[in-house]
Amino acid sequence: MTQTPVVLCASDALQEGGRAVAFDVVYGGHACRAFAIRFEGRVHAYLNRCTHVPMEMDYQAGQFFDDTGRWLLCATHGAAYVPDSGACAGGPCRGGLVKITLSESDGVVHWHTGHNLKPVEF
Ligand code: FES
Repeated sequence: MTQTPVVLCASDALQEGGRAVAFDVVYGGHACRAFAIRFEGRVHAYLNRCTHVPMEMDYQAGQFFDDTGRWLLCATHGAAYVPDSGACAGGPCRGGLVKITLSESDGVVHWHTGHNLKPVEF
């Protein structure tokens, strides 16, 4: 299936280790929250859904990084994920986060639709 790029945000909205930019997607037919971050210069995005219990992970809106900026944390029970792959790095996670493809060019970040991933229809 062809992926369609959808505008997400300006590049400078995603700062290294900073707050995430939230967006909405339809994943597997259900509306879900998603978030994008920048890590080691590159942008990454995931469904905002912990693999321990399927709930949103941020303890303050947009706050996913731990104090060191090396891990994405779930605020509920402390699962830790690798920022550039979403893989489980510790705590009670059961597998990795669902990754969403991003691209960045000319100061704009896009996310890409996929087999199970569509934009929200208004
Ligand atoms: S819900 Fe995320 S660690 Fe339990």
